[in-house]
Parts: sequence; C-alpha cells; structure tokens
Amino acid sequence: MWTAPGGAATVAVDAAAPFMQFVPGIDAGELVGVSQGRELFLAAWQAAPGQRAQLDGLGPLFNANACSACHAVDGRVAPLGEEGRTTSAILFRLGDESGAVHPRFGGQLQHQANAGPAEGVVSWSRQADTGAIDYTVRLIDPVAALDGWRLGPRISPQLVGMGLLDLVPEAQLLAYADADDANADGISGRPHWVLDDDGQRRIGRFGWKAIHSRLRTQNAGALHQDMGLTSPVHPQESCTSLQTDCLGAPSGGSPEVSEASLLAITDFMTVLAVPERRISDAAVFDQGARLFDRIGCAACHRPTLTTGSHPRFPSLSGQTVYAYTDLLLHDMGAALADGVREKDASGREWRTPPLWGLGLVARKAGARFLHDGRAGSLAEAITWHGGEAQGARDRYTALSAADQAALLQFLGGI
Ligand code: HEC
Ligand code: HEC
Repeated sequence: MWTAPGGAATVAVDAAAPFMQFVPGIDAGELVGVSQGRELFLAAWQAAPGQRAQLDGLGPLFNANACSACHAVDGRVAPLGEEGRTTSAILFRLGDESGAVHPRFGGQLQHQANAGPAEGVVSWSRQADTGAIDYTVRLIDPVAALDGWRLGPRISPQLVGMGLLDLVPEAQLLAYADADDANADGISGRPHWVLDDDGQRRIGRFGWKAIHSRLRTQNAGALHQDMGLTSPVHPQESCTSLQTDCLGAPSGGSPEVSEASLLAITDFMTVLAVPERRISDAAVFDQGARLFDRIGCAACHRPTLTTGSHPRFPSLSGQTVYAYTDLLLHDMGAALADGVREKDASGREWRTPPLWGLGLVARKAGARFLHDGRAGSLAEAITWHGGEAQGARDRYTALSAADQAALLQFLGGI
C-alpha cells in the first residue's frame, strides 16, 4: 500500500504545483528540451505578428492562449464560473451521432477570435431535479445557426504520468478488452482504434473519448483546436471553408509551431511525474482498496499497467504503475451520453479516466468531475455511473456509510 504509484516516475508532492513535476533521473542533455517544452506550455501565445516569432500565431479562432490556462499546475481550473458563465477550462465539441461536424464551425466551438467573429459562448445552469448541468450556446457569428447540432462538453483534465500511459504496450490494453462481454460480468471495454497522422492504426488513449493514440498527436490537436496554432501534424489553420475572416488572417509561420517546439512540448508532457500517495490512515486506505476491487470499480479502473521501454527517459521504462484505468471505451448509459460521436466512439462511450492524483484535484475550489463537469465531488461522480458501471454504482450506494467513507479515503489518496 506504500507502493509508489508511478514506480520510478513517482515524486514527493509539491503542494503548489503537483501537476508540473518532472520524473526523477532526467539526463542533463534532455533537460534543455524538457524545460523548453515547459516554457511553451506555460507561455501566453499571441496573435501574429507577435513580439516573439516563436510564440505567435494564436487563433484566429481559439479557446485559450496557453495550455496552462486550462491545465493548471495545481489541479483542474473551475469550469463553471459566476452567473452561469463558463470559463475557458471547458470546451465544447459540436457534432452528432453520425460523427459529422458542424459545417461552419467544425468539430469544436471556439469562443474567442482575433480576426472575424468568435463562434459562440456557452452558459450553464443546473437541472433542478437531477442536478446535471445544462449548457446553452449563444452564437456570436451572425450568419451561423446551430440547427440541431449537439454540444459535447469536455472539462480539462489534470495531467499526471502522461508519458507512462503513452508507453503501455497495446497488447496489455487488448488483454483487458472484452468487447462482447465473453465473461458475462456486464462490462465490455473495447479499444478505440484510431487512424494516426502517420497512417498507422493505434489504440486511442488520451481525452475523454480516447481520440488520440499518442502524446504527439494529442498535443498537436490541442495546439490546433484549442489555440488555433498550426504544426507539422496540422499544417492548415482550423478554419472551415466558410470562415473567410479566419482564412484571411495573418499567419504566424508555416507551421506556426515548429517540429522542434512540438517535440519539446511532447517531451515535457512525457516526463510529467506521478505525485506520491497521500495516506493518513493505512488501515482505512486498505479497506477502501479492497472495497474498490470487491464492488467492481477495478473491472474498468484497472489498478495496474506496466510500461514498455523509453529510449531517452529511463525512469519511465518497465514500471508497474497505478493509474486505475484500462484506457478502454465503455458504454456509460443514457444519462452520461451527449449524442456526439468522436471518431469511432459513440455518444454513450467514454474512456475509463485514470484516477491517480484525483484527491489532489478535489482539494481545489471549484473542481468538477466527469467529462462535462456535472459532479462536484468524487462521491457524486460515482453515483452518476450508469450503463456498464450500473452494477458497481448500485453496490457502492448499498455500502454502509463507513465503507463508503473508506472507499472515498482510498480514492482521495491514490
Ligand atoms: C481550452 C482549454 C485547453 C487548452 C488551451 C489545452 N487543453 Fe489539453 N485538454 C483540454 C481538454 C478539454 C481535454 C480533454 C479533451 C478530450 O476529451 O478530447 C484535454 C486533454 C489533454 C491531454 C490528454 C489528457 C488525458 O488524460 O487524456 C493532454 C496531454 C493535453 N490536453 C495537453 C495539452 C497541451 C500540451 C496543451 C497546449 C499545447 C493543451 N492541452 C491545451 C483542454 C485544453
Ligand atoms: C464500466 C466501467 C467503469 C466502472 C465499473 C467504474 N467506472 Fe468510474 N468511470 C468510468 C468512466 C468511463 C468514467 C468517465 C465517465 C464520464 O466522464 O462521463 C468514470 C469516471 C469516474 C470518476 C471521475 C473521474 C474524473 O476524472 O472526473 C471517478 C471518481 C470514478 N469513475 C470512480 C469509480 C468508482 C469508485 C467505481 C466503483 C464504484 C467506478 N468508478 C466504476 C468507468 C467505470
């Protein structure tokens, strides 16, 4: 139970910035690139032409001007602001159950622009009966209409042990998959096969629907969709052919983010450490761990994964890590569905999110849980589980108050 959750990639918790720590043992020669990546992650990017060519090209359409505006070093940025306003830390996919995307706005709503109109802003309200959050768009672009396209809300996750998850061999994820529920336990995780930018089919592992298979493509996708920055992976601006102001705006270079910068950002993401466990009462923590297994949480939130080997960062290689995920897609039922297919994942399917570090996230005011931020606590997140997780959820609600408390202590400490 004192196991280091990230193996050799585990670090003592820096309370001010637990999600910004490097794994131990980085070679001095590698530190340069990693530190550059960290700067690019923290930097506020500017519209072109900016004062520093390396940091310009933001937009024309974008959601935030910095990675760190959404991925805070100390946890999740509160997505639900004052008076029904959403913050930049929640973004919205636009689509439908066929996987098609909005003809004018594309697959993601950008609420900021530095050329032409932004697309729209979203406000939130709480459903009186269920407590779920409703999101309503007000379009800014005067010639657009939503025409029944569905909104897919996505809160910004904390970033923990990303390089470890990137390094888990596909065979392990396939061993956890059971698409036809052959063992009849009601759980049928399946891999989200996605076509990568290099033409290879790989298992998606990042994002709420596992739409990106590697950190490189995840980061390039974030630069492109969230910040309006082109890179070697996405050389064209994220404007649709109907968005002429966007297409005509000045560029920050072709591409705006160089291969070297993309590599640096990806190296930085790769070396993000895992904060060590926080256990105040070992007996209660162990009791919670046993319950987590017994009531079936561990059927999806698989306690361990083992990494392959990394050519440059030895502390990531061959580690048994406690991320509590199978990185597979599960049907989580109608209440969590949003009607937006992304790649091959339907509106009802979600990737099991890793649970490590969530206790640190829960400490921060305004932290929200689940893909759309509807849950205000870990306990509430559990009671929203449906679909394949209905049985585990029901077994959780049937536990005694003391057992529930032990389970929550465990969750808060992993
Ligand atoms: C506007 C807010 C926003 C910005 C800016 C942003 N992200 Fe994200 N990030 C998100 C959201 C939301 C997700 C989940 C996306 C999904 O479900 O597909 C995410 C997912 C990720 C993930 C995968 C996490 C996981 O657990 O699977 C990584 C890695 C990541 N972002 C890195 C970055 C980097 C690097 C940058 C800057 C280049 C960046 N992000 C910019 C909001 C943002
Ligand atoms: C069938 C697979 C499955 C089972 C069983 C399951 N979960 Fe989950 N869990 C998920 C998925 C998928 C999500 C993300 C759903 C969403 O965001 O809409 C999730 C989300 C969560 C979250 C919120 C994570 C975040 O980043 O906001 C917590 C906490 C959690 N689960 C704990 C548990 C506990 C405790 C149990 C046992 C009672 C359990 N889960 C059982 C698949 C499962």
